[in-house]
This record gives sequence, structure tokens and C-alpha cells, in this order.
Amino acid sequence: MRSDDHAAARARDAFLARFGAEPEGVWAAPGRVNVIGEHTDYNGGFVLPVALPHTTRAAVARRRDGRLVLGSLQDAAGPVEVPLTDLAPGVPPGWGAYPAGVVAELREAVTAAGGVTVLVDGDVPLGAGLSSSAALECAVALALRDVLELDLAATDLVDVARRAENDHVGAPTGILDQSAAMLCREGHALFLDTRDRSAEQVPFDLAATGLALLVVDSGVTHDHAEGGYGDRRRECEEAARRLGVRLLREVDDVGRVDELADGSAEGQVLARRARHVVTEDTRVLAVVDALRSGADPRSIGPVLTAGHASLRDDFEISVPALDAIVDTALAAGAHGARMVGGGFGGSALALVDADRVDAVVTSVTERFATEHRDPPRTFTAVPSAGARRIA
Ligand code: GLA
Repeated sequence: MRSDDHAAARARDAFLARFGAEPEGVWAAPGRVNVIGEHTDYNGGFVLPVALPHTTRAAVARRRDGRLVLGSLQDAAGPVEVPLTDLAPGVPPGWGAYPAGVVAELREAVTAAGGVTVLVDGDVPLGAGLSSSAALECAVALALRDVLELDLAATDLVDVARRAENDHVGAPTGILDQSAAMLCREGHALFLDTRDRSAEQVPFDLAATGLALLVVDSGVTHDHAEGGYGDRRRECEEAARRLGVRLLREVDDVGRVDELADGSAEGQVLARRARHVVTEDTRVLAVVDALRSGADPRSIGPVLTAGHASLRDDFEISVPALDAIVDTALAAGAHGARMVGGGFGGSALALVDADRVDAVVTSVTERFATEHRDPPRTFTAVPSAGARRIA
């Protein structure tokens, strides 16, 4: 992690070295870790993310040749150049699809401006379920808003970034990650109702109570543009359809999910998926109530752990490495632990007394060694600021 000033200077210098001119500014957007509320966002439910201190930065300048030029300090290959008229889903391939998707969403304004050069730098761990992609999209969206003087609110930029991910990259995600990257505030968790988009900043100062939010990257990478994530989304839509609601959020009696279990194997599966979503919404509300009431945050630990069990057993998106992190962290004294993000890999978080963090990390590392896994990357997440201009 770099301070904003250091990050801005590094991006400016690199932009100058690569493109022979100063950028018009540098913007940063953070990764996120979701405290609770997983796979609820595309069901119209509740989420409670915090922004990470890790950010993705975008140094940006307009051009005059009608092109998008993309470079990255994390990619040794030279810059990618695409005429704005050629931008289409999946073009360019790889990481460039994320910023290109944002540019495509704002194509008219970027074209009128003559094109744009974007140099990316960042330290959000990639493929770790910590929303490096949303951080990249949001840094670029905010940069373009400012450079092109567009009349767009932060929530509009959330939609621009989300459409870039859905339509250009092809990952059918909800609005959790982009909302966290754009809207989170330092020292707070963002309580968001994804149905009406109402948001509340809930104070979340764990350090004051001697606690830490430990993030452990399983090292198992995932890709939401394919496979399981989209399957879960379709299952939720089918469960909602069979229950006669538009969104699973509207099911307020968890007993109703049993109506889905019609004796068929598919019905059983849909009932489990729906049960996760419905119970997860109640877990978000329970955690928010506890934090709002000033209760000891240790009391939310069991709710987090229950969230993991639900993702593992009902939603079936955990993997052995994530289960190992959760079980080991709890055995080593964590108050609660769960996998985070879209699943099938990525990271887990554990709510741990600050003076037990080292012991928990040691336990998980030893467990990984016995399972012939590489030592996990770990850090403690301090709730940090959302997207911002840094130079
Ligand atoms: C991914 C998606 C989000 C959300 C989470 C699961 O991070 O991008 O929209 O669905 O998974 O909560």
C-alpha cells in the first residue's frame, strides 16, 4: 500500500516517462472487503462492505487522434492502442477490457474530447476476491468524469462501472463492488440497500475496541466472467420466478423457500440457494443493528461465521482452502470468520482480537503447509476511503 501522495507521484512519473507528457491528473479507487451480505446484491438485498487501503490508480490525459491508449505498471507489455470506433465487448482482451468498458460507456464524450490515454498502477491483490476490477473501473470512471467535466454523480459512476463489467467484460455481477469502490468512507462500513440504492455510512472503528479484520487470500483464483457465478445468478432468478416474486429480497419469511423443494433434485437446489439469500439479508440487518447500537463488535462474529456456513452448505460456492482458513482461524481464537466475494476462490476474513492476529496467521500458515499450499497472503483491513482524485 502506498500513501496517496506517493502513489500520485509514481503514476505521474511513469506517465511522463512512457508518453512524454504530464497527465491531467491522477485518480484512485480502492478494493473492498464485504463484512456481510454475499450474493444479495443482484437479488435486491443488503450489503455491508468496507473499502481497503489498497487502491488502483489511473493517470489520465486527453488525446487528439480518436484513440484509447492504455498502459499499466503491472503489465510489462507496451501500451495497447484502440481506435474509439473499434471498442466492443472484449476489445482489448485481458485487463484492458475493464478501462475500455468504462470508456465505451462514455464513448460519446470521450470521442468529442479526441480520445484518452490511461496509465494504470495499483496494489489491490488480483484475483483475490477483493474487487481489483471494480477499483480499476471506478478510478477510470471518476477520472473521465473530472477530465471531461461530465455531469455525473457518484451513483451514476457506479452504474457506468457496473455496465462496463457486465456488458464489456461479460461478468454478470451486481453493484456491490462498484458501490464500495465509489461510496465507502474511511472508518465506516457502507450499508447499502441494493433495491432502492439507499445508503448509510455505519461507523466501524474496530481498532478502538482492540479488534482487527484479518484478510487471508486463499491463493485460489476465480473468474466471474465464466462458470459458477452466473449459474448462481440464474438459480436465484429461477427461485424468485417460482416463488412469484421479482427479487428474492421480497421473500421475508424464510419458511417460504420450502415451497421450492418439490421433490425434484433441482427444487432442492433452488430451495438451498434461496435460503442462503433470504437468511443472508437478515444477517446483514443483524450486524448493522449491532454496530448502530454501539454493541461490542465481537458480538457480530457468530453472524459472520453463520454466513460462511450458508455460503458453503446452501450456496455451495466455498472451496476447501477457504473452509480451512475459516476453521483454523476460529480454532485459533477468531470471533468469527467467513469467505468473502463471489466465491470459488479468493479471500476469507476473520474478526480477531488485535493481539491474536499473529497467532491466527501462524495457525493458518501451518495448516496450509500440511495441505501443501503456498503460505497465504494476509493483511488487516482498515476501513478506508472510496474513489478520489489524488493529484
Ligand atoms: C462479486 C460480484 C458482486 C457480488 C459478490 C458476491 O464480487 O462482483 O456483485 O455479487 O460477488 O456478494
